[in-house]
Amino acid sequence: MTVSRRDFISTAVAGSLAVGLGQKSEAQKSTSSGPATGAVGTSKAPIIVCAGNGYNYIEEGYNILKSGGDTLDAAMRVIRGPEDDPNDTSVGLGGLPNEDGVVELDACCMHGPTRRAGAVGGVHNIKNVSLLSKAVMDHTGHVFLVGEGAEKFAVAQGFPTENLLTDSTRKIWLLYKETHSDWWGPGLSDPNWKRRLQRGLQSQPTKQSANEELKLRVEHMREVAQDIGIPQEDQLAAIRKVLFPPTGTIHCSALNEKGEMSGCTTTSGLGWKIPGRVGDSALIGAGCYTDQDVGSAGATGSGEENIKVAGAHTIVENMRHGMSPLDAGMDALKRIVRNYNGDMDRLKFMDMTYYILRKDGAYAGVSLWEGYDANKPHKIVIHDGQRRAEKTVSLFQGVSEEWPPEFKNPMDL
Ligand code: GLY
Repeated sequence: MTVSRRDFISTAVAGSLAVGLGQKSEAQKSTSSGPATGAVGTSKAPIIVCAGNGYNYIEEGYNILKSGGDTLDAAMRVIRGPEDDPNDTSVGLGGLPNEDGVVELDACCMHGPTRRAGAVGGVHNIKNVSLLSKAVMDHTGHVFLVGEGAEKFAVAQGFPTENLLTDSTRKIWLLYKETHSDWWGPGLSDPNWKRRLQRGLQSQPTKQSANEELKLRVEHMREVAQDIGIPQEDQLAAIRKVLFPPTGTIHCSALNEKGEMSGCTTTSGLGWKIPGRVGDSALIGAGCYTDQDVGSAGATGSGEENIKVAGAHTIVENMRHGMSPLDAGMDALKRIVRNYNGDMDRLKFMDMTYYILRKDGAYAGVSLWEGYDANKPHKIVIHDGQRRAEKTVSLFQGVSEEWPPEFKNPMDL
């Protein structure tokens, strides 16, 4: 029996983590009842906040605000950086593709002073979809364009088209195809054909059996990665991306001295998604929401979960009704937890970070977990004259993916 991705994730890994993490779940259920530690503060305009991958670009955004520029232009300046960067696999050029190997991008923006919005979803071949969402806002009577229509509109507006799949992301996609499909990779007649993993899965895997299953799986994937030509030092990261499809994204919100606010979010979405899947980053109210009277919020993380709680809108509405940015964000996270009745064996497989900026300059960065791994905590980047990255306040202690789940030393693999 070929081990499908779905079977593998839902039995072997879930089994392993369920067994391994069940013991810790009480600790993980701890919430922010104590004093908040992490990214909570009050500053004054101009101030701009964004996700961690905007760190290298936030200075330029801040300078736009400082010189009296428009808040959406400032936010766009920040998030264009990762969109243009072929090494950022979460957005724009070099973003991880869909299951067909096509990079498919989502973005949306809101301009507070004019109370307008623009959005695009499922766009191919246009790397700066953040700017495209603004073009929809500026040059149409619509709010949201998707797919082929959005691409045609982009071409009409003079956006360049290009293949957004880099050599590096193409190889990771090939690793996904070869290890998660029955028909990709050398066939039976190929002299180099290697028997695929055919171990039957136990219906109730023990921690040990699930771990052995995972170890075999990762060993096999290493061989395939080597054949594909993924450099050895990148192989484990590539395998992780295949087994735990990431949802990297960037959001940015900005406030200027006139009290004007804007926000924008852009992404290549969930890695290996079904073509046509649109995530939260394209949706006004989920991936981004700005209300000139209240504040601005945006999200990175599990798009499906964020859509179901309309995260960014929920947070702004919470602030409208008097909550602090921290409490407003925590409430949205708790709604995600409520949707799973607090089932930690499922919540372990999702993550969500919110970036929140209130009209008075108060801000917060909150997340479901502390990070994807212990060495990379979730952070919000802030620039209010001083650029800094602060750890988010997390609802749960611990990380959403323990990677490798059992093999702390990659050399053990
Ligand atoms: N948050 C990005 C996505 O899920 O598409």
